Amino acid sequence: MRIVNRGRSKTLKLLVIGSGAREHALVWKLAQSPKVAEIFAAPGNAGTAQLGRNLDLTASDFAGLAKAARENKIDLVVVGPENPLADGIVDHFQSLGIPIFGPNKKAAQIEASKVFAKELCFKHSLPCARSATFTDYEQARQYVKRQTPPIVVKADGLAAGKGVVVAESTEQALDALASFMAARTLGAAGQRVIIEECLLGKEVSVLAFTDGRTIVPMVPACDYKRAFDDNKGPNTGGMGAYSPPDFYSPELGGMVLRMILQPTVEAIDKEGSPYKGVLYAGLMLTNDGPKVLEFNARFGDPETQVILPRLKTDLVDIMLAVIEGKLDHLKVEWSEDACVGVVIASEGYPGQYEIGLPITGLDTLERDVLVFHAGTKAGPEPGQVLTNGGRVLTVVATGRNLAEARSRVYSNISKIQFEGSHYRTDIAVLK
Ligand code: AMP
Ligand code: GLY
Repeated sequence: MRIVNRGRSKTLKLLVIGSGAREHALVWKLAQSPKVAEIFAAPGNAGTAQLGRNLDLTASDFAGLAKAARENKIDLVVVGPENPLADGIVDHFQSLGIPIFGPNKKAAQIEASKVFAKELCFKHSLPCARSATFTDYEQARQYVKRQTPPIVVKADGLAAGKGVVVAESTEQALDALASFMAARTLGAAGQRVIIEECLLGKEVSVLAFTDGRTIVPMVPACDYKRAFDDNKGPNTGGMGAYSPPDFYSPELGGMVLRMILQPTVEAIDKEGSPYKGVLYAGLMLTNDGPKVLEFNARFGDPETQVILPRLKTDLVDIMLAVIEGKLDHLKVEWSEDACVGVVIASEGYPGQYEIGLPITGLDTLERDVLVFHAGTKAGPEPGQVLTNGGRVLTVVATGRNLAEARSRVYSNISKIQFEGSHYRTDIAVLK
C-alpha cells in the first residue's frame, strides 16, 4: 500500500463517502487539517459542496469511486455509512493500493450481522443481553410465547434502524416475528432473528478509534432515536445527540474499555481479521454493569456531529495512524466543552415526506453555531439550498456546559425554516 506523505502542509487529497450530516461533519473536521489540500465527497450534499467538491457517485458504486479516486489522486478515502463497509469497500480499495479508513468486510460483520456480533459476545464473554437465534419461524413463535414481556426482537441484517422491536407484549413480539420472518418486510435481513431479554438502564454510545491493537475511546455521547419529544413516536435515524452525558464517569469509561472495547477488538482479531477504523458500542448501563446492545462498524449519526467538534487532535493524523497501525504514537485530545446537536426533519419523516422545499435563515445564525447538512441540495438561485431528504440538517453548538450549549442551539435553530420543518425541543434536557 502507498505510504502517505504527511509531513508537509496542504498536500493531501481526501475523499469522504456518504451524504449525511455525519459525512458533512467529517468533511468539516478533516478540512481543518493543515495537511489537506482538497476534499471530495461522494455523493455529498449542499454542505459538503461548500467545503470541497461533490462527485456524482453513489456509495455502492465501488468501481466508479475507485476510478474517481485514481483520477483525482486521492491519498485517503473515508467511509461514512455501513452498507459499503458491509459490502467490502475497504477490501476493494486495499486491493487497489488506495489508503482507506474503515474495517474490512469480515470485521464489518460486527454490524452487518447481529447474529455474528452475538456469537462473538458469547464466545468471548462480552457482557450482553441473554438471547436465542432462530431461522425457523414456528420455533421462534414458540420461544416468544414462553418469554415474559417486554421482549426484544431483532432482525439479523442491516435494516437502517428498522430491524429492532422492543415489544411490550407477546402479541407485539409475535407481530414483529411475522413481519420479519413471514412477510419478509426487511428481505434477507429478517431471515434470521434474535430474541433477547430487555435490558433496563441508561443508554450511551461509546465510539473508539482502533488500529487493531491500540484503542482510543472518543468522548461518550447520547442520541435520541424517537421522532417526537418525550421519546414518543416512531424510531428514526436519530433526532439529536449530546456529549458528554453526566452519568458517564472516567471509572465507567475504564470499565467499558477493559470489559468491552479491548476484548471485542481482540476477539475480531482472533476471528482472523484485525479491526481498523471506528468501533461503535451501543451500551445499556444496567445494575449489573455496562452491556452491549449493538455494535456499529463506523461513526454514529448524529453522535459524530457532537463528538467531532470536541476533538482537538488532527483527524487526518488519527486516520492515517489507524491505517498504518501506529495509533499508539498519537495523543488524542478532547475539549472540555459540552456539545448539543438537534436534527431538523421534513414533515412526515420517518414516513413519507416532500423534497425540494427552499430553506431560509441559514445565513442568520450566530457565527460559531454549526449547521451540518444531510438531505439538502443546491437550488437554482445563487446560494439557495433546498430540502432533499427526511433528516435535513443537524444544528450544533458547544458551550461550557450542556445547558449553555443547548440554549445556543435552540436560540438559533428557530431561525432556520422550511415548509413543515420539525425538530425535537427536548434534546439534552436532562431528566
Ligand atoms: P440496536 O439497533 O440494536 O441498537 O437497537 C435499537 C434500540 O433498541 C437501542 O438503541 C435500544 O434503545 C433498543 N434495544 C436494543 N436491544 C435492547 C435490549 N436488549 N434491551 C432494551 N432495549 C434494547
Ligand atoms: N446513532 C445510531 C447509529 O448511528 O447507528
